[in-house]
Amino acid sequence: MIHTITLTRPDDWHLHLRDGDQMRAVLPYTASRFARAIIMPNLRPPIVTTDMALAYRTRILAALPPDLQSGFEPLMTLYLTDHTSPSEIIRAKESGIVHGVKLYPAGATTHSDAGVTDLARCHAALEAMQKVNLPLLVHGEVTDPAVDVFDREKVFIDRVLSPLIWHFQNLRVVFEHITTRDAVTFVKEASRQVAASITAHHLLLNRNAIFQGGIRPHHFCLPVLKRESHRQALIEAATGGNPKFFSGTDSAPHSQSNKENACGCAGIFTAHAAIELYAQVFDQANALDKLEAFVSFHGADFYQLPRNRDHITLGKENWIVSERLTFAGDSLIPFCAGEILTWKIA
Ligand code: DOR
Ligand code: ZN
Repeated sequence: MIHTITLTRPDDWHLHLRDGDQMRAVLPYTASRFARAIIMPNLRPPIVTTDMALAYRTRILAALPPDLQSGFEPLMTLYLTDHTSPSEIIRAKESGIVHGVKLYPAGATTHSDAGVTDLARCHAALEAMQKVNLPLLVHGEVTDPAVDVFDREKVFIDRVLSPLIWHFQNLRVVFEHITTRDAVTFVKEASRQVAASITAHHLLLNRNAIFQGGIRPHHFCLPVLKRESHRQALIEAATGGNPKFFSGTDSAPHSQSNKENACGCAGIFTAHAAIELYAQVFDQANALDKLEAFVSFHGADFYQLPRNRDHITLGKENWIVSERLTFAGDSLIPFCAGEILTWKIA
């Protein structure tokens, strides 16, 4: 039985950090585990220009605690809108600090109201991204209210993603936080330009977790958890060694009061134990030998960034997750609050 595992320091290829005091509360969890993270731009107002991304990056670096000052690099993104111009895309690429452009279909999720209403309006921006080699990061769900919430990813593949990658064959696309067997199959069969991130919570839970003994707001995220057969497909994809699949936590902090609410926010906070949770999944699947590539190599290679050079060590040791964390004058209920996890950072 394996008791410790040393990995090249991992990266988080999909992270919500928020801003201000909220960011200060959550940033150390990520910066103490990961070398880099792709920072989601869905703030209010959204990060739609390179200047905004530069300023946000400066705020993140300033919020790092002294002992983590030099060890963490935020990889910034722009928020695609109907009005994103090709010149803004070129500026973003030339800045060297923007590593992707995020497509939120308008209304799909938290702070997506400024998102894209019709991808046809973004063709000039997408052409520019393809030309300057800046990846598109996709929240892959349709917003059509006639489509069942559990089918929105599958319908997105058929209606939006397939035509998109057919039209822009050299555009690099990350299908974010995939949740279905359909998405796994689609990504495997697509060209090398297409990859996918997978969260720890979609690997650990199926949709029963939303209703276990009552409604569980802390298990509500978007895309929503799916049935067990889809979770099994995600585990096979993550642990299978295919370089198209990599870690992206989608750790998304919301205050306890905004989660435990008649209209609770979507998002699961996993940054406090992100790498430990992935280790648990790979351990349960008897695939710990595949963990390093999934969390430390595949994403870096896809983003055409160097792999990290330092290491972290995890030990097989039980520990209990806090019941709640402090969060800018409110509380934050972490994933697996009060539960035992089996891997711990040394
Ligand atoms: O559950 C989610 N929370 N999904 C998203 O796409 C956005 C995120 C957030 O920002 O809270
Ligand atoms: Zn997200």
